Amino acid sequence: MTPRRVAVLVGSLRRDSLSRKVARALVALAPATLVLELIDIAALGFYNEDEEDSPPAAWTAFRERLRPFEAVLFVTPEYNRGLPAVLKNAVDVGSRPREHSVWGGKPGAVVSISPGPLGGFSANQHLRQSLSVLNVPLMPQPELYLGQAAALFDAEGRLASESVRLLFTQFLTRFAAWTDANRPR
Ligand code: FNR
Repeated sequence: MTPRRVAVLVGSLRRDSLSRKVARALVALAPATLVLELIDIAALGFYNEDEEDSPPAAWTAFRERLRPFEAVLFVTPEYNRGLPAVLKNAVDVGSRPREHSVWGGKPGAVVSISPGPLGGFSANQHLRQSLSVLNVPLMPQPELYLGQAAALFDAEGRLASESVRLLFTQFLTRFAAWTDANRPR
């Protein structure tokens, strides 16, 4: 079977982003049935409905890049108990024009991180709220809230322990099954 393509969006632009490290680890651990690809959202510019008559090239490129993917995976930190604006903006850009939203029907999952103890719980829930109205079939379980996220990696940026590798692998296995069961029609 051809592996399903999964777009991975990261909610941080920071050079040493923990979220991006987690995303890269997930890309590397993907099972044979999934191919995960990181999508850059840095250059999108703020969404403004006035510009839809002649959309900025960055919006069009983003929408066309996303369209062929069969599933979406979000990896995000939390900013002030919510979703970082850069990721919410990417969700908004992809959602319009409404009848051409890139999200509808693509099975999805959310991973949230924090260097603190709460694992980005609020950002995770905040994102789920938006994805729900965008008709993304969201994997309900397992949820993945990664607290103390700096400790996931060693000094070289590799996953620090076998237990985390196993956790990520199990999450991806469940996500592969979820994408299979909720294939876009
Ligand atoms: C944060 N941080 C943060 N952490 C958290 O657990 N809950 C929160 O509400 C916030 N709020 C917040 C607001 C702003 C503006 C910043 C810059 C940071 C800390 C945040 O989790 C930490 O910087 C992460 O390392 C950011 O993720 P990346 O960039 O490492 O992926």
